[in-house]
Amino acid sequence: MQRFITCVLILSFISPCICIRLKYVTENNTYNVMQYGAIGDGKSDDTQAFSKAWTSACNAGGMSTLVIPSEKSFLVTKVNFSGPCDSTILIQIEGKIVAPGKEEWTFESRWITIEHLNGLKIDGNGLGEVDGNGSTWWDCPKCARPVVFHFHSCNNLTVSNLTISNSPKAHVSVNKCNGATFSNISIDSPAHSPNTDGFDISASTNISIQDSNIKSGDDCIAINGGSYFVNVNRVVCGPGHGISVGSLGKNNATEQVSDIYVRNCTFTGSTNGARIKTVLGGSGYAKNITYEQIILENVKNPIIINQEYNNYLEETSSVSVSYVTFRGFNGTYVGKVAINLDCSSSGCLDILLDQNNILPAEKGGAASVICRNAHGTARDTIPQVYCLSE
Ligand SMILES: *[C@@H]1O[C@H](CO)[C@@H](O)[C@H](O)[C@H]1NC(C)=O
Ligand SMILES: *[C@@H]1O[C@H](CO)[C@@H](O)[C@H](O)[C@H]1NC(C)=O
Ligand SMILES: *[C@@H]1O[C@H](CO)[C@@H](O)[C@H](O)[C@H]1NC(C)=O
Ligand SMILES: *[C@@H]1O[C@H](CO)[C@@H](O)[C@H](O)[C@H]1NC(C)=O
Ligand SMILES: *[C@@H]1O[C@H](CO)[C@@H](O)[C@H](O)[C@H]1NC(C)=O
Ligand SMILES: *[C@@H]1O[C@H](CO)[C@@H](O)[C@H](O)[C@H]1NC(C)=O
Ligand SMILES: *[C@@H]1O[C@H](CO)[C@@H](O)[C@H](O)[C@H]1NC(C)=O
Ligand SMILES: *[C@@H]1O[C@H](CO)[C@@H](O)[C@H](O)[C@H]1NC(C)=O
Ligand SMILES: *[C@@H]1O[C@H](CO)[C@@H](O)[C@H](O)[C@H]1NC(C)=O
Ligand SMILES: *[C@@H]1O[C@H](CO)[C@@H](O)[C@H](O)[C@H]1NC(C)=O
Ligand SMILES: *[C@@H]1O[C@H](CO)[C@@H](O)[C@H](O)[C@H]1NC(C)=O
Repeated sequence: MQRFITCVLILSFISPCICIRLKYVTENNTYNVMQYGAIGDGKSDDTQAFSKAWTSACNAGGMSTLVIPSEKSFLVTKVNFSGPCDSTILIQIEGKIVAPGKEEWTFESRWITIEHLNGLKIDGNGLGEVDGNGSTWWDCPKCARPVVFHFHSCNNLTVSNLTISNSPKAHVSVNKCNGATFSNISIDSPAHSPNTDGFDISASTNISIQDSNIKSGDDCIAINGGSYFVNVNRVVCGPGHGISVGSLGKNNATEQVSDIYVRNCTFTGSTNGARIKTVLGGSGYAKNITYEQIILENVKNPIIINQEYNNYLEETSSVSVSYVTFRGFNGTYVGKVAINLDCSSSGCLDILLDQNNILPAEKGGAASVICRNAHGTARDTIPQVYCLSE
């Protein structure tokens, strides 16, 4: 009995400690870059403060929040938010993060690297902006220009409510990620800025981009080799070069893309709308790709498949293109060809055009359609498509 009482007494001393420890690891710990010495005046170099705050947030365990506060501007050089981490992290970007100009850049191909993380969330609360200061780079297309965000090996990632502007090269690159949602993202670079893709997705699965506005000087979204199950919903693209699959098969590579669904998007003043481009000499496939409920406003090439993109090789192999649906395109185009299905001798198979209404922006303009080695079906489509083979 005495033993029992002793036990109870000892336990009642220990248990509050256990509770406190549990509370400590599960509570919402915040790590504000200001507490780690950031100045936030847009001139001082705050890279070290970002790095220290990240290390603390990453090592803490439980849930931790890295805070980049509002109404401040943080000049940072290379940022490396790398895992694996003991914590599940939210990066709350409410202030502005700015890159140095080209002259102050020490050669690196990435500005903000985010890698080896599970369940990372980045939220800008509609206030945050990440500015790549790209205008200092755009007149040097041959320079090794950095991308703004490079996500590598991130699973179950969420990025929301953020503006990403003026990238020297692509704004967001997503590589080897599984499960990522980007929502309410505003990407903003001018039409003349070279290679400033909005999103560049490669070797990734289950990626969703939604409710976003993309203005860029290259593809709004480029879906590259090794990408499967990519969903794009309610994205407005323009200026820009459209939402593209590829190019696939460069340098004789074998590349595969499948299960792509682009729905309820608007192209406004963009060079292309829906585009699939592959390079001769390559192998692999682009298949099961659907573009649906698409609004067009003065788009140059609303629908374009080019299976011989950058054709400088003797015709050898090609990346196969099949099961591609274009449904519910509605609006105007300003180019020469409304629907351009330009395939190599191996052909594009099972193309479906359904319920499209694509009209020249100018009255009296003629709508034209080109098919070369394109097989499939067209119905309820203006301009009428007579050139598809069975
Ligand atoms: C953690 O705290 C931050 C800052 O107070 C807050 O904005 C965020 O929503 C909190 N996160 C969670 C998961 O509670
Ligand atoms: C980022 O930091 C991690 C850990 O410190 C390191 O292993 C990795 O190589 C760094 N990555 C880059 C791109 O600098
Ligand atoms: C861009 O870089 C230039 C040159 O380094 C610098 O003066 C400027 O403050 C940077 N920020 C912005 C937003 O342009
Ligand atoms: C994804 O991460 C969130 C936290 O951001 C977590 O609540 C959820 O369980 C994770 N889901 C998977 C499938 O890992
Ligand atoms: C985006 O911001 C809105 C409004 O501030 C908020 O309700 C929503 O939860 C945010 N989205 C995410 C995924 O955090
Ligand atoms: C998108 O961000 C804006 C602020 O920029 C916010 O007001 C709105 O609620 C957000 N929408 C969603 C769907 O999160
Ligand atoms: C896709 O990713 C989301 C998180 O972004 C996750 O909740 C969902 O379970 C994943 N689905 C599959 C089939 O992996
Ligand atoms: C399409 O997106 C618009 C906003 O861009 C929204 O109002 C509409 O409900 C969406 N339709 C569908 C079917 O999701
Ligand atoms: C691709 O293959 C062709 C024909 O086999 C060859 O001539 C060419 O050099 C190859 N190109 C590359 C970049 O390997
Ligand atoms: C095509 O892709 C969608 C996802 O976009 C998927 O649900 C569907 O099962 C795929 N169809 C085939 C025949 O693989
Ligand atoms: C096509 O767009 C026109 C003009 O915006 C609109 O009046 C019409 O309802 C749309 N048709 C379909 C089928 O969405």
